[in-house]
Amino acid sequence: MEDRFGHRISYLRVSVTDRCNERCAYCMPQELQEWLPRAEILSYEETLRLIRIAAGLGVTKVRITGGEPLTRRGIVDFIREVPKIPGIRDVGVSTNGTLLAREITPNQTVAAVLQAAGVRSLNISLDTLDQNVYAQITGRDFLPSVLQGIGASVAAGFEQIKLNTVLMRGRNEEQLIPLIDFAASQNLILRFIEMMPVSTTEVLTERNFLPVAEAKCAIEAHFGDLIPEPTFHTNGPATYYQVPGRDQRIGFIGAMTNLHFCESCNKLRLTCDGKLRPCLGSYLEFDIMKPLRAGASDEELRQFFLEVVERKPQQHDFRENYQPNRKMIAIGG
Ligand code: 5AD
Ligand code: SF4
Repeated sequence: MEDRFGHRISYLRVSVTDRCNERCAYCMPQELQEWLPRAEILSYEETLRLIRIAAGLGVTKVRITGGEPLTRRGIVDFIREVPKIPGIRDVGVSTNGTLLAREITPNQTVAAVLQAAGVRSLNISLDTLDQNVYAQITGRDFLPSVLQGIGASVAAGFEQIKLNTVLMRGRNEEQLIPLIDFAASQNLILRFIEMMPVSTTEVLTERNFLPVAEAKCAIEAHFGDLIPEPTFHTNGPATYYQVPGRDQRIGFIGAMTNLHFCESCNKLRLTCDGKLRPCLGSYLEFDIMKPLRAGASDEELRQFFLEVVERKPQQHDFRENYQPNRKMIAIGG
């Protein structure tokens, strides 16, 4: 699948739920959340069928997101099926980390079960190491569980684990160095992400926006100049650097300020309520659940994917002050 701008689509992000056990300020509104009713969520069978079709069109990498994907019942059995799909070579999960250390059977953590299910990489959100600040940002006092979850994931032996930190002025700008030191101690990749306008609440203001360039300056003031690694890529738009004097890699995701951000976009998103979204930062979405439930053939669904990719915009609209009328949580990071 290739769009009008030469983006080759090889990466499908699949949101399996809009529900979450946390309430991050930049993602979810604080007021009582109304979850989507079960019938409006794609079943696992439906989701697997769509991933199979995407794989037939050149998708090789799938990332499972939410909401918090690990809150959905039966998630591990679902995930086990994904790497079995012909063409899918890389399966990742994005999680807030709170449930990774939970034991499914005695001495077997969720993290270990995911690793055994064929998950290659985990992205774990970690915005701060300060328990009070963590509770303020996420609305929940779950930092200890997340740290246990990270430990359980390291012990489980994933090929790649990345920690993701959303930059917030006045909230975690003091935490950049401690987070880098923590990531080094666990031997994990850490990435700093610019806050994007993807919540129903007005979280993105001039006052709390912290650009990656500024974070990078603060980090360089402490460690010395970061060493660019232009040839290292994971699967997304992050740019990576080595921390001087250490064997440590950190990344920056400048979704708002990096003008080349969209150039290498290889993504398509499937929301948990069955919408294909060609771009996170665009209002465009296409309801594939409708034809799916109306009995469309595989060939018809293939055409649907191709048409969505055909409409993929050249770049996101965030800089034009666009506020999508959907919550990040229902789109899946
Ligand atoms: N801006 C940037 N990143 C966000 N995430 C959630 N909401 C936002 C936002 N408004 C991140 C989470 C997680 C990933 C799934 O998306 O921190 O790492
Ligand atoms: Fe939940 Fe992740 Fe959204 Fe936070 S960012 S509310 S952990 S889905």
